[in-house]
Amino acid sequence: MIGIIGAMKIEVDGIIAAMTDTETTVRCGTPFTKGKLSGVPTVIARCGAGKVNAAMCAAVMQECYTPKVIISTGVAGGIGEGVKIGDLVIATHAVQYDYDTTAIGEPKSFVPLGGSGRETVELPTSEKHNAVLAEFAAKIYKGVHRGVIATGDRFVADPDFCEALRAEYGAVSCEMETGAIAHVCAASGVPFSGLRAISDNANDDGKVDFMTFATDSAEKCITLLKAAAEALYNI
Ligand code: ADE
Repeated sequence: MIGIIGAMKIEVDGIIAAMTDTETTVRCGTPFTKGKLSGVPTVIARCGAGKVNAAMCAAVMQECYTPKVIISTGVAGGIGEGVKIGDLVIATHAVQYDYDTTAIGEPKSFVPLGGSGRETVELPTSEKHNAVLAEFAAKIYKGVHRGVIATGDRFVADPDFCEALRAEYGAVSCEMETGAIAHVCAASGVPFSGLRAISDNANDDGKVDFMTFATDSAEKCITLLKAAAEALYNI
């Protein structure tokens, strides 16, 4: 099956509503709904905001449902040149900007993948799945970007911080889950994609814009995932 994770109701409810044969099970306080999306076996979970919630959800999803791919979906702050509200971002890779062991001589954001001994800054995505998402996105929308998603436990509403994320990681968007889900997928060997629609520009207007645009932006990911589900499943 394909696995989808969103943090908030507005990011998952439209997908659940489109699914057939649904069955919902709550695990670790997190609702997982399995069924069929556009005819293909799918599990979708609402993880709640933040890295710990997202990682917990991804680990449970991987262990209990063994999806062939996990996709992180939802809204994000746009911080790249020309990345506007309503645009889509498909992650080339993700980083956890708030993981910092530089004081002991390691690179910033150099995360250990469980106890495997493997460590990385750039949490990978699956190019095959990214390509399918990009192909369907281009058919439906203008303003589709590929780039780095920077994840941390912070709602960013600060242009200087955005500039730092752009300078340090080449980030085009920031949010609070994708890097954690990517981390679990990298540790577990599960193909992963990160798909986000921009709800705000993570600046001084970030709070008001998020309140105004999050629902419409989240809907864009939902429409895309419904259209692409079969192709994603068939990879
Ligand atoms: N999700 C949507 N907008 C965001 C922002 N500005 N910071 C963190 N997460 C977000």
